Amino acid sequence: MPVVQKNPLTKNPNGLDLKLVATYRRQIQASLVRVWENVLDWEHLPHLHDSSFKYCELDEAGRWGWRVWSDPDHSGHFELAVDTDRYVVRAYIGGQQFSEIWTFLSDRGGSTDISVEFYAAGTSDDKRADISKMYLNLYQVLWDEDETMMQERQRRLDQQRDASTEVNLGEIALLREKAPIRFELNRKEYLLSEQATGWVATPTICPHLLGPLEISEEPGQVRCHWHGYVFDLQSGKCVTPADTPCSLGLPPHLMVQEGQLIAVKR
Ligand code: FES
Ligand SMILES: [Fe+2]
Repeated sequence: MPVVQKNPLTKNPNGLDLKLVATYRRQIQASLVRVWENVLDWEHLPHLHDSSFKYCELDEAGRWGWRVWSDPDHSGHFELAVDTDRYVVRAYIGGQQFSEIWTFLSDRGGSTDISVEFYAAGTSDDKRADISKMYLNLYQVLWDEDETMMQERQRRLDQQRDASTEVNLGEIALLREKAPIRFELNRKEYLLSEQATGWVATPTICPHLLGPLEISEEPGQVRCHWHGYVFDLQSGKCVTPADTPCSLGLPPHLMVQEGQLIAVKR
């Protein structure tokens, strides 16, 4: 069993030979609320950040933070612990800690200043520049991806989508020229397209945390790359992970009336 960190909110609680190898400062164009939500969200790591995290499996999570396995054989893990205005991430291999990263957060009213200190264990002076570069490049990519996700989520949260349960999408002849087009029904957004089987309305917003849905490689499914959830279009049910209450709901009923296409909530 790996070490479960004692006194996680003290610096260097395992008494390692830690050296400060890099610092990173940036203003994130997202509110402090979105940033904390993102910090506690371990589930997005191998999906949104798939170029940086190859594997991630939950061991334990709570208001204190989370602990995830970083290898399928459970030989490595990350632990994140939160404090009022800062959090710390420690990385371990075989129960042995090798890094400690402190991030300090400051509310700037709609944006958030972050200040990050990277400490590595047993770093020789000739390796310091390479390790520093690696951390700075990694955090640039991670925060770029997080910032885009947080902004998109905020935009979706602020949106007032049409609550109507029936919408006239217009003349069929006109739709054929314009499709694919987006429309709203029952506060959801769909992409309307014409396929060999007829008109199809595909949901575009993930019911989990409002990420963008994309057509999956599996026929009849859509996938969200924020946390990797996959949904069956016919039933609306979440296929992966199977134990979530998230659902798309049933697709709207599309019918033709006097040359017009009508979408009705089911
Ligand atoms: S927002 Fe989380 S899987 Fe879509
Ligand atoms: Fe992230």
